[in-house]
Amino acid sequence: MTTSAPAKRLYIKTYGCQMNVYDSERMADVLRPLGYGMTDDPEGADLVVLNTCHIREKATEKVYSELGQIKLMKGRKAKAGGTMTIAVAGCVAQAEGEEIMRRQPAVDLVVGPQAYHLLPELIARAHRATGERLSADFAADEKFDALPKDRHVTGVTAFLTVQEGCDKFCTFCVVPYTRGGEWSRPAGDILAEARVLAAKGVREVTLLGQNVNAYDGDAGGLAGLVRQLAAVEGLDRIRYTTSHPRDMDEALIAAHGEVEALMPYLHLPVQSGSDRILKAMNRGHTAEHYIRLIETIRAARPDIAMSCDFIVGFPGERDSDFEATLNLVREVGYASAFSFKYSRRPGTPASALPGQVAVEVMDERLQRLNALLQTQQEAFNRSVVGRTAPVLIEKPGRNPGQIGGRSPWLQPVHIDGPERLIGQIVPVCIDAAARGSLSGSLVLETA
Ligand code: SAH
Ligand code: SF4
Ligand code: F3S
Repeated sequence: MTTSAPAKRLYIKTYGCQMNVYDSERMADVLRPLGYGMTDDPEGADLVVLNTCHIREKATEKVYSELGQIKLMKGRKAKAGGTMTIAVAGCVAQAEGEEIMRRQPAVDLVVGPQAYHLLPELIARAHRATGERLSADFAADEKFDALPKDRHVTGVTAFLTVQEGCDKFCTFCVVPYTRGGEWSRPAGDILAEARVLAAKGVREVTLLGQNVNAYDGDAGGLAGLVRQLAAVEGLDRIRYTTSHPRDMDEALIAAHGEVEALMPYLHLPVQSGSDRILKAMNRGHTAEHYIRLIETIRAARPDIAMSCDFIVGFPGERDSDFEATLNLVREVGYASAFSFKYSRRPGTPASALPGQVAVEVMDERLQRLNALLQTQQEAFNRSVVGRTAPVLIEKPGRNPGQIGGRSPWLQPVHIDGPERLIGQIVPVCIDAAARGSLSGSLVLETA
């Protein structure tokens, strides 16, 4: 811990997935030795980083409007005699770095998801010259080797990236182009990082990868890695996301039944319930295969909370295809889910397909799907009422005397209790369920 005030102020705004959240934390770790301390106000900051997401058109456009605001702040700072450096990082930087520099000349540098360990060098160069683009095709291992071994920790849960990239090439998706091919970190590095986290009070890690269950580092797949991590002193809970149905192997399913630290929650996107659409998406599995897979997973861990991603309005999606998606949802029963309107992404195979679906049709389908998923989420939450569950207390609650934590099934739980319990896993009786959260009361241990 440093006692002197940081000399330079760093503002990072994160868009997109958890992997970007992890990357933003690591960018701060890279910049901390240079005297950068975090601020939550971009006005007057010395360095502003937008860590961007390219997954849907809306996400990308947000970046350009945000840059417009930041540019004004840069102008105000310059008037007052200061300087502000603007960096665009992440998946938009990788996908359209040149366009960013052209559309917004106030941007000083652009850095892709596999190159942010070079930020100090890029910043120094940006101060000497004008804009620079560094999103080139770096291997992820260079980045991880260069990142500081230490991590700044702020809570009792943490993300830990173990796998990068994607080789699946779903026809709608930009990720294989922005993040590169599938690559797994060596198990030793991951364990070392996990030990650092645990030593700083982290009780729960979420292992991250665009295809995290494709992890094939030297630990014996993700199952092997989970088992090794479960043995790390102080680390009591393990989660992982996002998985692909094709990589859900027997060993991992078995781990769900055997490893106590592995939490009963699985995000396993299916995208559609129609085989015709799944084929056009290049998902490499059918609806039937997915449903059977979930049966196997539930046989290993009956109380597992299933979560999913869906896309409505993929090119060529007919009413009957959408009905097949609803049927799949009814058959599986989800605890939570995310659904999106198909967004046409430049350069992806699906963007050139005939039969692009009208936006009103997508809106209507999204609404119907969400209504069904919401009912299922409520039903799942209600199903745990009356049970006593271990809750990891994460933070103070909204009101004084309240604390907040997470159930094993990832629902937020609100409890009346003292803040000294933060960081502990305590038995909580679940009293009531709302749509997105639970409330419960502490079960007093009698000794
Ligand atoms: N690797 C993960 C996450 C990919 S991105 C996976 O395979 O599931 C997260 C979600 O965004 C995807 O699951 C998909 O539902 C959605 N998504 C990706 N591309 C999209 C697009 N072009 N339009 C709408 N949603 C998209
Ligand atoms: Fe995108 Fe498909 Fe890869 Fe997921 S598996 S990141 S949806 S290409
Ligand atoms: Fe977005 Fe890149 Fe993640 S496109 S979803 S930030 S991998």
